[in-house]
Amino acid sequence: MPQTHSQSLEREIESLRDEIRRHEELYHVYDNPEISDAEYDALFARLKQLEEEHPELVTPDSPTQRVGGRPAEGFAEYVHRRPMLSLDNSYNIEDLRAFDERCRRLADGRAFEYVAELKIDGLSISVHYQDGVLVRGVTRGDGRVGEDVTQNVRTIRTIPLRLKTGDKKIEAKVEVRGEAYLSRSVFEKINAEREEEGQARFANPRNAAAGTIRQLDPKIVAARRLDMFAYDVITGVTKPFNSHWDALNWLERAGFRVNENRALCSSIEEVIDFCNRMETKRDELGYEIDGVVVKVNSTALQDEFGATAKAPRWAIAYKYPARQATTKVLSIVVQVGRTGALTPVANLEPVQLAGTTVARATLHNEDEIKRLDLRVGDYVLIEKSGEIIPKVLKVVESKRTGEEKRFRMPKKCPVCGGVISRPEGEVVSRCVAADCPAQLKARLLHFASRRAMRIEGLGEALVEQLVEKKMVADVGDLYRLKLEDFAGLERMAEKSASNLMAQIEASKSRDLPHLIYGLGIRHVGERTAGILARHFRSLDRLSKATVEEIDDIHEIGMTVAQSVRDWFDDAGNLYLTERLCEAGVRTEMEGGAKVFEDEAFAGKQFVLTGKLDTLTRDEARALIEARGGRVTSTVSKKTDYIVAGDDAGSKLDKAQALGLRVIDEAALKEMLG
Ligand code: IVH
Repeated sequence: MPQTHSQSLEREIESLRDEIRRHEELYHVYDNPEISDAEYDALFARLKQLEEEHPELVTPDSPTQRVGGRPAEGFAEYVHRRPMLSLDNSYNIEDLRAFDERCRRLADGRAFEYVAELKIDGLSISVHYQDGVLVRGVTRGDGRVGEDVTQNVRTIRTIPLRLKTGDKKIEAKVEVRGEAYLSRSVFEKINAEREEEGQARFANPRNAAAGTIRQLDPKIVAARRLDMFAYDVITGVTKPFNSHWDALNWLERAGFRVNENRALCSSIEEVIDFCNRMETKRDELGYEIDGVVVKVNSTALQDEFGATAKAPRWAIAYKYPARQATTKVLSIVVQVGRTGALTPVANLEPVQLAGTTVARATLHNEDEIKRLDLRVGDYVLIEKSGEIIPKVLKVVESKRTGEEKRFRMPKKCPVCGGVISRPEGEVVSRCVAADCPAQLKARLLHFASRRAMRIEGLGEALVEQLVEKKMVADVGDLYRLKLEDFAGLERMAEKSASNLMAQIEASKSRDLPHLIYGLGIRHVGERTAGILARHFRSLDRLSKATVEEIDDIHEIGMTVAQSVRDWFDDAGNLYLTERLCEAGVRTEMEGGAKVFEDEAFAGKQFVLTGKLDTLTRDEARALIEARGGRVTSTVSKKTDYIVAGDDAGSKLDKAQALGLRVIDEAALKEMLG
């Protein structure tokens, strides 16, 4: 019998519901989502739209009919005195302006302000105080009923066990709401530990935070260092302040951590400006955010505007472009890097991510592919955060068809056919052929890159030709090239050739840290190159240093020391450094090779903490190190000076407890003269 239209519609709605329920369970119960938030939102929006068009098909068990996830088993349930609502989302500036218009209509001519604050990507929790003492901590759960996680909440150091204000009127019964989250560094640490123990990695800090707060053992929670940013305070069932801004300031005084990135805005334009500023700052924050929350400041207006079943009308979330997406792995290719390392790279079905089209993701090495159990043809969840190259988080196993193909690392170098070695205990396979053109190309590109010798115009196409035509055999040969050598090359007009010659010439006066970094010594990144340059002050001195001498440098370990020594022990490399010298490349530190030591600094240990007035931490570090001082990150009895700026935290406390010398930026500058 042919299907009627309404039957097929009912089917579509039911299958959407099933799919949404499955993703909700993966997200809320297992903390292990398969799709990105944006993809989930799209499914949800589609269901909502169909239900709005056909209200007769809405059922009480539809995912649209509830506020959030459901409580997991293992914790006691707690009914929120006032439901913990969610927020409506907006994905572009037009949505924000529409929100502003709605608010202005509701305010009916009365002036009002907005508070813009960061939307922290964690999970919301509610903490209760009786007469100023912490008595309960509850997760949001489905918005109506949450889980009592008091023991776990007690381990969060940024949640005071006792309120600090001493305001009896307010403190009889206080409920504070906020976002529990894990910093990126703690998240990385947890994942590294999980990996070592053979457990699956958490896809993102939010899932890790959710998994942590629902741990049954509070000791594990304490070890994982959750944090909370507070964003709301309620007494009984009402809000005790006339404005949200005042509430945030009270929270801070009461001892909570309130995010410092917040703004009181008198127009939506100021809000938009805040959203844009924060988007550029997003990667510098030590924690994940997924947008900005915009709230009407006046509590009276908030009450007047009210809420729908799901979200208040006086607030909206402005979401930044998604950084996770699912897509298909079309093939896996193997690239050869400058140290011969073979890196498998996944070619992906192109997908929009954080504002760009992504078609490739690095897979790092063979073990990573095994760990992910990734096969060609798989659908994968990928993420693009601070770094440029996106990474594969996991395989979406439910999308497997059985047609996927396992991947094998090649037995020979895919470029030169050379022998591949993978020493015991190492994860990386390398092509060991000395003359592998892929390695040479990668070395040239690295040497010329902006963070190394900055030879603009020496891009992939040109390097390819220089290597193919055997015009260069190492980076030193770049300095022997003449204008006429470029004549026969493709896409090389005379003007670009002379520009390039000028760039190569200019690179000779690049400073020593950039040169050392540009040599591409294994384990020597930009920071290490800077440390080596400042310590030895000339390439010649570095080339003669023993492993012990290098290892003795603070912040440099044995692996780096051995790698540097090995590099200079190679006859070809030593010959290269001589030729760089002869070509007139600067191989000494600015100010000469002699170590300039200042008595006030030589051998002294400094710790920098808090925000300095004018210098960045890196600048202060460079100035101290240039005088022979050392900057360490942990405070100990050996520390000579603590340089403390604004908001100096626990390091300052520890320094004071140890009776160490604490100075401010002005005093440091005086010492520096
Ligand atoms: S206000 C009724 N402020 O975002 C007001 N929420 O998508 C609801 N969130 O469930 C919350 N940072 O978990 C608010 N500064 C912030 C927030 C924030 C993160 C979370 C919270 C909420 C979700 C809604």
